Amino acid sequence: MDALRALHNRNSVNLLESPGPSAEQLKNIFKAGLRACDHKNLRPWRFIQIEGDARHQLGELLLTAKTAMDGAEPDAESAAKLRAKPLRAPLVIVVAAHITEHEKVPEIEQILSAGASAQMMMVAAFAQGLGAIWRSGALMFRPEVHQGLGLADNEKIVGFLYMGKAGRAKRVPRLDPADFVRSWPE
Ligand SMILES: Cc1cc2nc3c(=O)[nH]c(=O)nc-3n(C[C@H](O)[C@H](O)[C@H](O)COP(=O)(O)O)c2cc1C
Repeated sequence: MDALRALHNRNSVNLLESPGPSAEQLKNIFKAGLRACDHKNLRPWRFIQIEGDARHQLGELLLTAKTAMDGAEPDAESAAKLRAKPLRAPLVIVVAAHITEHEKVPEIEQILSAGASAQMMMVAAFAQGLGAIWRSGALMFRPEVHQGLGLADNEKIVGFLYMGKAGRAKRVPRLDPADFVRSWPE
């Protein structure tokens, strides 16, 4: 797909089915993530690929984190829902920022770069005909999730990218750039 067409039309897909991206598609996705803008070339991007049965382990981890966050186990129905969250797509990519102390590059810039790499991967998925959605939530900030995923103290999760075969695509809103842009001074 032409680059501008992908950039202008990318959208999120909630309903994601198997199969997940092929090995070649996934490599293209990660390569796109590695082209995010990056002050001082600190390469703050970390990606964790979770698929197959490992998604069940992620579900357990989310449940552990939720229990710790609330100080009590959720009821059976909520627990089942939480456990099932990672099963909403054949592939989940956890995107994290690896923060390096640097006098010229504050943490926020490194987190932004990790966010940019997530967006690059979203567009690369779309450009290859895949469906994807970027998800987050309070649990991604929990220490239980960080520890469970093997993240270091200087790493922060910026999102969970769910990817798979697009089930039902939604319409892309036609926004007018003029509503978001102004010249300065006016
Ligand atoms: C940092 C971030 C976190 C997000 N977290 C969620 C989420 O937890 N759940 C959700 O449904 N959408 C979440 N979204 C929004 C969707 O990824 C998506 O962008 C939104 O539904 C708009 O659809 P579109 O991308 O097709 O315009 C998040 C987006 C960003 C940038």
